[in-house]
Amino acid sequence: MTPQSGPLDRLEPFLSERNLDYHIHKIQGGLRTRLERLSNTPIPENAYELARLITKSEPGPVQNLSMELFNHQHYWESLSLRPGPAGQALLQEAEKSFGSFELLLEGLRQQFEAMNPGWLYLSHGEHLRIGFADHPLLSGETMLLCIDGWEHAYYLDYQHRRMDYLQALLLKLVDWAKVNQRLLQANKPGTDSLLA
Ligand SMILES: [Fe+2]
Repeated sequence: MTPQSGPLDRLEPFLSERNLDYHIHKIQGGLRTRLERLSNTPIPENAYELARLITKSEPGPVQNLSMELFNHQHYWESLSLRPGPAGQALLQEAEKSFGSFELLLEGLRQQFEAMNPGWLYLSHGEHLRIGFADHPLLSGETMLLCIDGWEHAYYLDYQHRRMDYLQALLLKLVDWAKVNQRLLQANKPGTDSLLA
């Protein structure tokens, strides 16, 4: 089962079935159709293959659409109604990079509030980094978390209350145990950053 093919009510009440139906079928499905039309090769379902398509493509529509698809897969994989807590590795990195895990969350809130619609990233290179402009894969970093900040991700449920959407994600849906697992994977010697 791919992350986007589970039951559409799986994130209720924080993200509704109607929202997921629209986001996954209309928006994400539309991205896939556009990429299929532009690209001469079949579009991989597998996130690792999608990541390879991003890194080997020239800047342009194919790369942008691949990034959008990859981000959506990563986003759905990160959300759960039964999220696990941050593990030791993530807590330690958060303390080193931001002062504490709470300050990491605060950094995500501040960046989300300040940025234009788009993706918010938490990535790991030499340290943890919050950003929105450059895709972590193109900076050679491991993407630990990406948050969909496009209006289609939240408008049906939250309208203009985009910070309430973010808060619901950070406190109720983001599986921090999964983020921790990605960090551990990235720190393993010799690991390809695309695999984490
Ligand atoms: Fe989206």
